[in-house]
Amino acid sequence: MTTLGIDIGGSGVKGAPVDTERGELTAERFRVPTPKPADVDSVVDAVAEVAAKYEGYDRVGITFPGVVVDGVTRSAANVDKSWLNAPAAKLFSERLGKPVTVLNDADAAGAAEVAFGAGRDQSGLIMMLTFGTGIGSALFLDGVLIPNTEFGHLEIDGRDAELLASDRIREAEDLSWEKWAHRVQKYLRHVEMLLAPRLFIVGGGVSKKSEKFFPLLDIGTPIVAATLLNEAGIIGAAAAASRSADRAV
Ligand code: BGC
Repeated sequence: MTTLGIDIGGSGVKGAPVDTERGELTAERFRVPTPKPADVDSVVDAVAEVAAKYEGYDRVGITFPGVVVDGVTRSAANVDKSWLNAPAAKLFSERLGKPVTVLNDADAAGAAEVAFGAGRDQSGLIMMLTFGTGIGSALFLDGVLIPNTEFGHLEIDGRDAELLASDRIREAEDLSWEKWAHRVQKYLRHVEMLLAPRLFIVGGGVSKKSEKFFPLLDIGTPIVAATLLNEAGIIGAAAAASRSADRAV
């Protein structure tokens, strides 16, 4: 069975076929810019454009930057409001003519890191946090995902955490690494007080620059950078699709 993974991000929609046993892409990734506005119809078009680059796949896993329950998108913090309560899995599946699994972007990236990357062979409570356009969270207990946690929206100093400490805010407010790390530290300390995870895995584009801010963080929990970088969402989405195919057999 060949599975395609597609990652809908704030700036790009990226996809590739994935070997879900090994957690590796089997062909080069293809990317189109995320449409602006990122309403349902335009994003479905962008996903179809990515999928059209590949042939011979049986199923598709797709990430979405919001809450996804039973294939329906239930929140739309950083995307067009047309996504509220959209039957995403059904819409993608009708367009691509294949079974589609849709899941939260941080859940997908975290699942890939836990299975194949920085969280491999780790037990206990592990937390993936992605710092990008927003802050995404994914929680795993002994490798099992507790889906749709939205810890990027915790309130810190009276503000939604992602409006204080996402990478988008670092860029928009032109914050120094010191200033931004101070905000990230405050956020991480709050999260560790609430959940006491064994490990934080940091993903999102900024995880490539972890050497710039990890040394500035004074927190009690071990913290590592994601290792699959911009492939994590694609791999995690495909893995989820292939698991739901197994369950359907
Ligand atoms: C959304 C999350 C998402 C995160 C990263 C947040 O604004 O609420 O569902 O995982 O951004 O894209």
